[in-house]
Amino acid sequence: MTKNIAVIKGDGIGPEIVNEALKALKKVAELYNHEFNFTEVLMGGCAIDAVGTPLPEETVEICKKSDSVLLGAVGGPKWDKGEGKNRPEAGLLGIRAALGLFANLRPARLLPPLKGACHLKTEITDKGLDLLIVRELIGGAYFGDRRTFTDEKGHKTAVDEMKYSDYEVERICRVGFDLARKRRGKVTSVDKANVLDSSRLWREIAHKISAENPDIEYGDMLVDNTAMQLVRNPAQFDVIITENLFGDILSDEASMITGSLGMLPSASLGETGCGLYEPIHGSAPDIAGTDTANPIATILSAAMMLRYSFDMEAEASAIERAVDKVLEENYRTADIMSEGCILTGCKAMGDLIAERIRKD
Ligand code: IPM
Ligand code: MN
Repeated sequence: MTKNIAVIKGDGIGPEIVNEALKALKKVAELYNHEFNFTEVLMGGCAIDAVGTPLPEETVEICKKSDSVLLGAVGGPKWDKGEGKNRPEAGLLGIRAALGLFANLRPARLLPPLKGACHLKTEITDKGLDLLIVRELIGGAYFGDRRTFTDEKGHKTAVDEMKYSDYEVERICRVGFDLARKRRGKVTSVDKANVLDSSRLWREIAHKISAENPDIEYGDMLVDNTAMQLVRNPAQFDVIITENLFGDILSDEASMITGSLGMLPSASLGETGCGLYEPIHGSAPDIAGTDTANPIATILSAAMMLRYSFDMEAEASAIERAVDKVLEENYRTADIMSEGCILTGCKAMGDLIAERIRKD
C-alpha cells in the first residue's frame, strides 16, 4: 500500500524522537512492501521562528491531504512569553481542531520488563495495569472562550469557559464503548458532576449511551476520586472516558504509574481516517539535543498509526513486539533505567528497535 504521512517534528526532543519512529516505519515499509511517503511540515515554536505563526496554513493543508500525521512534541521556554494565540501549543490545538480529531486514545500498560521502573508497590502492580484513556480532544476548557480583563473593582481577572454540547459527549462516548467491547468490556466515565454543569450534561449523555450498550459494564467516577484510584487500584480500570482537561491530567498520571512518561503513545481520531499520532509527553527542552530522550512513546505512536489509520494490524504488532524484545533484552533509556540494565541513548534505542522488527 502507498500512504502519505505528514511529519511534524516540532521542538525540543521532537526531532530526535520522530527520527527514531521514522526508522521503524521505514523498516516496516521495506519488510511488508509498502510505500510510505513522508512530508515534513512545520508546527510549534520552530514554525513561529521560521514563519511567525505556530500553525502555518500550508501545514494544515498538507496534513488534511495526508493519510495520517506523525508528531513529536511542541513548545519550550523560548516561546513561553508569547500570547496565547502565538504560543507553540496553539499550533497543536489548532491542528487537532482543523482535522476534527475529537477522540484521543491513550493506552497505558505496565510492560512486564518495566515493573522495576514503576513507582507503585508490587502488591498493586501484581494485579496488572492495562487501561485506555479516551480523552475528548477538541472541546471543553481548551476550546471555550477565554479572556483576561480588569473588572470594575480594578482586579485583573481571567475566564476560561468550559463548554460541552450533547453531540460532543455522545460521539466520544460511542468511541469509548466501541473500544471497550474490543477489550475487557468495562467503561468508567469520569466527570465532576458534583460541581460542574458541563459534567452533569456529560453524565446524562454517558448514561444514555450506556443504556444503548447493555453488554458493557458501566460506572461513573468523579475525577478527584479517579486520580486517587489510579494509584490505589489501577487494575479496576479498562476504558476511561473523559473530557479534555481531565483526560490531559489523568493521562500523565496513568503514564507515570506505568513507569515513565516516555512510554505512552497516543492516537487522535476524527470521523474520517486521517489521524494524528504523538507521544503523550512534551518537548522536554531540558534534555533536547543530548540523545537521552526515550523514543519509545513515539515509536509506539507510529504503531498505532499503522493499526488505526492504515488497518495494518500485523505491521503494528511487529513494531510492538520489537519494543517488547528490546526491553526484555534490558536496554533502557535514562528515564526507565534500573539496576543491571544497559543504558541506551535515543538513537541507539531507535536502531535496536528497528533491527528487531520482523515479519511474523
Ligand atoms: C498533551 C499536551 C498538550 C495538551 C499541550 C502541549 C497543549 O499536554 O497532548 O497532553 O494539553 O493537550
Ligand atoms: Mn498533557
